[in-house]
Amino acid sequence: MVQLSGIAITGCGSAVPNVALGNDGMSRLVDTSDEWISTRTGIRQRRLADAQGSLRQLASDAARQALEMAAVQATDVDLIILATSTPDDLFGTASQIQAELGATRAAAFDLTAACSGFVFGLVTAAQFIRTGTYRTIVLIGADVLSRWTDWSDRRTCVLFGDGAGAIVMQSTSERDGLLGFELRSDGNQNNCLTLAFQPQPHHLVDDIAIGQGSFQPIAMNGQEVYRFAVKKVPEVIEKALFRAHLSVEQIDWLLLHQANQRILDAVAQRLGIPDEKVISNMAQYGNTSAASIPLALDEVVRSGRVQPGDVIAAAGFGAGLTWGAAIFRWR
Ligand code: UT7
Repeated sequence: MVQLSGIAITGCGSAVPNVALGNDGMSRLVDTSDEWISTRTGIRQRRLADAQGSLRQLASDAARQALEMAAVQATDVDLIILATSTPDDLFGTASQIQAELGATRAAAFDLTAACSGFVFGLVTAAQFIRTGTYRTIVLIGADVLSRWTDWSDRRTCVLFGDGAGAIVMQSTSERDGLLGFELRSDGNQNNCLTLAFQPQPHHLVDDIAIGQGSFQPIAMNGQEVYRFAVKKVPEVIEKALFRAHLSVEQIDWLLLHQANQRILDAVAQRLGIPDEKVISNMAQYGNTSAASIPLALDEVVRSGRVQPGDVIAAAGFGAGLTWGAAIFRWR
């Protein structure tokens, strides 16, 4: 009989570029103000990778820290999952990270689920551990959205920042740290938030033409995405809690994708979760897409706010549209 394993999250890490752009700087770029950005979003600054900065480097730095905290050697890692929408190479960046870490035994692949990527990756990684296939997995959420931001569009450019966060997940015969989850997608609303390839016909020979082109900058219907998030995120958290046989009161921390402070507040209010349990660091980093949850996790773990045994309800939401929640125990 197959012995099902439990999951322990044993390490975390994060990395952000050195360059910070504050709201006053943004207002020199587009017609906006610190007052508008901070009251409508809670964001005060964002970190931006420079032209030499790579996703590989940010992701590898975050992963190294997570491995160190978990006291795991890179050579003991079985699998690396990189959740990202902004790879250095469309064929995948995870293998470059595998090489950079020296994780010679590890298989590595990219996973794309936009701002839900970390939660989707967590659940994907958990399946490999639960089945006993792998014992040690590094999950990274990393994005360099600045590459694909339309810097002339004030409705979106003020929101995003660059960064990376990582966790180490290991099998355990003790209590299972992934208590419940729920993942959802709705492609009918895909056009609300896109970073789409736009092909132009390119004639080859005879009557054969293929499509070649480039990706268009991020476009978002902010109000639609806002409405979607505030409605769907509480639902998916409740579903994951139901699966975990937990009540809302048993959550120690609410850790949402850091898109907008108003979304965090509205979701917490709908669920009846008090402000002091809501983790928020978007003032410093903006919306870092797949990185936002592990980046915030790393901060609260390293500051000592989150303690071993604490139960965290995490939820990602964004392009796809995708959304999902995972209830997990820290260590
Ligand atoms: O990570 C993926 C998930 N993404 C999200 O969850 C984002 C969800 N959406 C949001 O967070 C919000 O919809 C935004 C922050 C994007 C926008 O906030 P809003 O309160 O929904 O603003 P709005 O789009 O309704 O715009 C209100 C006004 C408009 O002006 P008028 O038409 O009322 O005159 C906009 O043109 O604010 C204007 N505006 C701005 N003004 C100054 C929009 N962006 C800006 C800006 N600075 N940066």
